Amino acid sequence: MGKSTLACIYSHAALLRGERVQVLLFDETKRIFLTRAAGLGLDLKRFVGDGSLLLEQIDPAELSAGELSTRIEKGVEGSNVRIVVIDSLTGYLNALSEEQHLVLQMHEILTYLNQKGVVTILLLANHGLIGNMAVPIDMTYLCDAVMLLRFFESGGRLRRAISVVKKRAGPHEDTIRKFRISSEGLSVGEPLDQFRGILTGVPQFEGKSSELLEDKASA
Ligand SMILES: Nc1ncnc2c1ncn2[C@@H]1O[C@H](COP(=O)(O)OP(=O)(O)O)[C@@H](O)[C@H]1O
Ligand SMILES: [Mg+2]
Repeated sequence: MGKSTLACIYSHAALLRGERVQVLLFDETKRIFLTRAAGLGLDLKRFVGDGSLLLEQIDPAELSAGELSTRIEKGVEGSNVRIVVIDSLTGYLNALSEEQHLVLQMHEILTYLNQKGVVTILLLANHGLIGNMAVPIDMTYLCDAVMLLRFFESGGRLRRAISVVKKRAGPHEDTIRKFRISSEGLSVGEPLDQFRGILTGVPQFEGKSSELLEDKASA
């Protein structure tokens, strides 16, 4: 959908500022992560080379209790990491046994990172790609800002929509915008104000048909 891509873009910006970034991968290999970034015009490989990007692939089957906290603490204390990306929390959740409570663990990890002034980016997949979606676990109350990415169908194409659903510190834009991923990276388009029901995945077009054609041309 674009979650890892978005996290890559934030990470790249931080790395260019000279900050250290730690990315913990549960769902995919380092190779795929770096190849996708390269395809979007982001050279993350060189930051792995110079040690400023700590890219760690975690095998869920071998993850012991408390290991995630230990790894993160090591990154922050030992390497002065300023951004931590967990890609994805869904992968981590699947790796935990029933006795290990994800929300409690994340509460502890986020409190620690917050105290250290570290930005944490958590990626969570929804069940289902289009239509009714359900989140496996509600983590939003722990987060200062929440972005929602969705697929929706229109004009016989699969499109992507992005919106900010929460920002703890103040007001935020309430529009739903189209976004695209291409070899030039990610671009956010105009608000999708001609549609109703974008978040259902199957929106109704409410504008003039000429506007739908314009929308097709710019897709
Ligand atoms: N270089 C590229 N050019 C165009 N689209 C791309 C490129 N790289 C990735 N994508 C698109 O981004 C999608 C993957 O996004 P990703 O960030 O991995 O999603 P998620 O992490 O939400 O599963 C792919 O399905 C593809 O459509
Ligand atoms: Mg991903």
